Amino acid sequence: MGKINVYILGGSGYGGGELLRLLSQHPQVQCIRAVSRRHAGEPFWKTHPNLYHVVDGTFEAEPDWAAFAKAETPVVFSAMPHFELAQQLQELEAVWQRHDLKDRLTLIDLSGDFRLDSAAEFERAYGKPHPYPQALSSFVYGLPEWQKDKIKGAKRIASPGCFATTVQLALLPLAGLKNLGFIAVSAITGSSGSGATPSDATHHPTRANDFRAYKVLNHQHEAEITRLLDAEGSTGYSLAFVPHSTPLVRGIFATVQLHPPAALGLNAESLRKRYEDFYRDAPFVRLVEDTPRISAVVGSNFCDIAIHEKNGNVVVMAALDNLVKGMVGQAIQNMNIANLAQETYALYLGGLYPL
Ligand SMILES: NC(=O)c1ccc[n+]([C@@H]2O[C@H](COP(=O)([O-])OP(=O)(O)OC[C@H]3O[C@@H](n4cnc5c(N)ncnc54)[C@H](OP(=O)(O)O)[C@@H]3O)[C@@H](O)[C@H]2O)c1
Repeated sequence: MGKINVYILGGSGYGGGELLRLLSQHPQVQCIRAVSRRHAGEPFWKTHPNLYHVVDGTFEAEPDWAAFAKAETPVVFSAMPHFELAQQLQELEAVWQRHDLKDRLTLIDLSGDFRLDSAAEFERAYGKPHPYPQALSSFVYGLPEWQKDKIKGAKRIASPGCFATTVQLALLPLAGLKNLGFIAVSAITGSSGSGATPSDATHHPTRANDFRAYKVLNHQHEAEITRLLDAEGSTGYSLAFVPHSTPLVRGIFATVQLHPPAALGLNAESLRKRYEDFYRDAPFVRLVEDTPRISAVVGSNFCDIAIHEKNGNVVVMAALDNLVKGMVGQAIQNMNIANLAQETYALYLGGLYPL
């Protein structure tokens, strides 16, 4: 495989910064360009100060697709807010067609625009009609631990949501089981989950000493989680998902509680074996004792999982960095898998302990 050239749409956001940071360490990435309307002409480091003297380059107002078409292996990461890529894609496809890029480039979307299978599911989850429903089926859902074979060679990948990734990885080894019953999911996230533009939900004074739930039983990522369970053949379950916002900046921690029927034989020992067998070849899932810790995964692409069982009550806890395994790291993992590079390139790093 040749050298990879990357364009980042939405390069000035938190996702854009993490893409620049991690891709600059990727052995097969030759060139990274990034777009920002507000910061066009400015060096990357002015927006992402951690990249000073590490990643050279300036933001562009618009992509130069003619120049990009010369790349041997072109990859586009879209890190724009929800709805933006879906609104722009038809026009982009026409431009890519003119430059002989449409069928050659790998497009990886970090937003929720192309994660679901149908326009109806999308509207239920996001509350608005999909701007380009005809394109939904052209994207593969990029959860490598679930369907790596579909990601291999894919040209369009929708990277999963951060909560969705955490809860799916907590539940994946159980997916397909019948009559799992009530699945209670309680999950917390840090403020960077809402992006770089300040809002009531992320403003420091309103968040620093607070703890609250939001979108109770109504979070858009629930659709990704139940779609996975249904696709694997789970029946007889009911999922209740309660997200919380915390004073953390990065990190997600999900606690999943179930009381599966005794007939499934899910005791502490069999559960441990089930998870070990399932994740044996998953380089970024670590089974840990006792409890995962956000401080052990922040800055890394790892999702740490702990499993407990007592008197038939099962608790699975999972933690990851929303900006890495919950977003950019997973997107790069998808790029690596899709383009047949080493899955772990640029990603096999420990976190920032202590934070
Ligand atoms: N933050 C997370 O933990 C997380 C996790 C998983 C997935 N995601 C998803 O990933 C995407 C990016 O998230 P983020 O946290 O990086 O967001 P962000 O910090 O708000 O950054 C958004 C970027 O998009 C650009 N942008 C905004 N409107 C645009 C438009 N109309 N056309 C072109 N560019 C536009 C902005 O740049 P300019 O205004 O300078 O052009 C900015 O660079 C979102 O869809 C988000 O839902 C986020």
